[in-house]
Amino acid sequence: MKIAFVGKGGSGKTTLSSLFVRRLATARRPVIAVDADINQHLGVALGLTEAEAADVPSLGGRLPLIKDYLRGANPRIASAETMIKTTPPGEGSRLLRVDEDNPVYDACGRTLTLEGSDVRLLATGPFTEADLGVACYHSKVGAVELCLNHLVDGRDEYMVVDMTAGSDSFASGMFTRFDMTFLVAEPTRKGVAVYRQYREYAADYDVPLRVVGNKVSDPDDVAFLRDEVGDDLLVTLGHSDWVRAAEKGRPLPFAELEEGNRRALDVLYETADASYERRDWERYTRQMVHFHLKNAESWGNARAGVDLAAQVDPGFVLAERTAQPV
Ligand SMILES: Nc1ncnc2c1ncn2[C@@H]1O[C@H](COP(=O)(O)OP(=O)(O)OP(=O)(O)O)[C@@H](O)[C@H]1O
Ligand SMILES: [Mg+2]
Repeated sequence: MKIAFVGKGGSGKTTLSSLFVRRLATARRPVIAVDADINQHLGVALGLTEAEAADVPSLGGRLPLIKDYLRGANPRIASAETMIKTTPPGEGSRLLRVDEDNPVYDACGRTLTLEGSDVRLLATGPFTEADLGVACYHSKVGAVELCLNHLVDGRDEYMVVDMTAGSDSFASGMFTRFDMTFLVAEPTRKGVAVYRQYREYAADYDVPLRVVGNKVSDPDDVAFLRDEVGDDLLVTLGHSDWVRAAEKGRPLPFAELEEGNRRALDVLYETADASYERRDWERYTRQMVHFHLKNAESWGNARAGVDLAAQVDPGFVLAERTAQPV
């Protein structure tokens, strides 16, 4: 299952991603946690020290390796240089599984033990001033998109992505890559403004989107969110002393998370799991091709100097049963 946490800056995307990852770990589900945010905080939220988190190798820094591995023996992709973030897999491509070892995870992944279960952490890498607004900013997040587009995940295994709701994910199609998107919103006008923008993009592509209220303190907060987002409101979490203690460097066992917040995580887990019923690999493949053709035309062809539409394998459908090339 591919699950995204998006929302306004500071709403709690990283916090809720990390709590959700812990919830999955307690259920012994294989999990890859992906930090795809500009501000790289997921590692620390999952219990790494700042130094350990800074030491996690970045996907963005290893794009040639990632592209070469995923390209495999796909004859439609002549070289890693012509592979852009939206280049879809086809016959001969190598696909990724959540629960396996491969050169991409070897080069970029860090394994953490949470609640007695191994969780893999991947990170796009930190962004410097110089990255913002230039091509390499896009390519850094593009590494995550390539991984999503080559991932053949089953129902009981998860890739959880802590993401910005920025325009980049709309242009590239990244926002369509998830079985479920949890939009984290504080009960404020700015919090729900991000929801409205997201919903507008999502509606055109049939993207499953639910709102998770965060830092909700009283019934009026809940009523506000309910008024603003209606039935899209899934569940709310309140202020958490457990989260605050972790922020103070005094982490508590997960079992001591407040009862109400624990129940909310159960709802997220049940909702994520149930979203499998709507999974449609043909649509998933069709949408990745759609965004690839759009990106090829708007900037990719000019950059690569070739017609990137030729990378599309018309007969290929990504699916759990898609065979790996030997
Ligand atoms: N339910 C909560 N209870 C207590 N503190 C919380 C809660 N949710 C988030 N916080 C705190 O709010 C701050 C922002 O949360 P977080 O970093 O998760 O937000 P974010 O959306 O990932 O932010 P950014 O956009 O900067 O990445 C953090 O200090 C976090 O510990
Ligand atoms: Mg964050």
